[in-house]
Amino acid sequence: MTVSQLRLGVNVDHVATVRNARGGAYPDPVRAARLAVEAGADGITAHLREDRRHIRDADIAALKANLTVPLNFEMGATDEMIAIAIATEPHAACLVPEKREERTTEGGLDIVGGRDHLAPRIRALAEAGIRVSLFVEPEPEVMEAARALGAPVVELHTGSYCEAAMAGDAAAVAHELARLRRAAAHGAGLGLEIHAGHGLTTDSVGPVAAIPQIRELNIGHALIADAIFVGLAQAIRDMRAAMDGARG
Ligand code: PXP
Repeated sequence: MTVSQLRLGVNVDHVATVRNARGGAYPDPVRAARLAVEAGADGITAHLREDRRHIRDADIAALKANLTVPLNFEMGATDEMIAIAIATEPHAACLVPEKREERTTEGGLDIVGGRDHLAPRIRALAEAGIRVSLFVEPEPEVMEAARALGAPVVELHTGSYCEAAMAGDAAAVAHELARLRRAAAHGAGLGLEIHAGHGLTTDSVGPVAAIPQIRELNIGHALIADAIFVGLAQAIRDMRAAMDGARG
């Protein structure tokens, strides 16, 4: 497998976070999604949370209407979200655990304990032609449970690896990478398509991108954060030019 076969899904949630800080409509996640596609994104991901803290219902509809690449609709496995997904018909739905009090998605889905809740919802999405992915911890038995549930895709949670990398804890990094490698190999061996994501940065992405079974990475926060550092200077130059232009 070549590196070029590794797809990048760009998560635009935090464009909406910045927009919502002021109400209004600026910046528009659809414009950011178009820019992401021009820059090489293979797909766009957006998470409609129960509390609508960033992406809103209208964003999902606008992304679906305007995108030329697959839309990956991240969602809790609730009846409300299942209904929205079926009405929207995204390319894919990634089921994630969702707690109102959490800052971001903490940990993977409990697909062993949650089997009875998840099975009919996975079926409903699949029957609507939506490819279902389960956001899970990188453990072999979780791969088995995902397979048994009939999901074609799992997304391995890279949060623990990224925390270890951020802390510079070499032993923990090695441990977490070994977990990811083992789960990716086991899952792919069962016929699952393997994705990964959460917390990845340009500094930490390399060893995960090198895992040959991984077909797609979904990345959001670090991209929007890095846009400050690689884009703020140009934004200031543009503002300066607009001000100076007004003074002739
Ligand atoms: N994948 C899933 C399932 C997620 O929940 C998230 C966070 O919304 C991501 C990937 C992207 O994580 P980050 O924003 O930290 O790159």
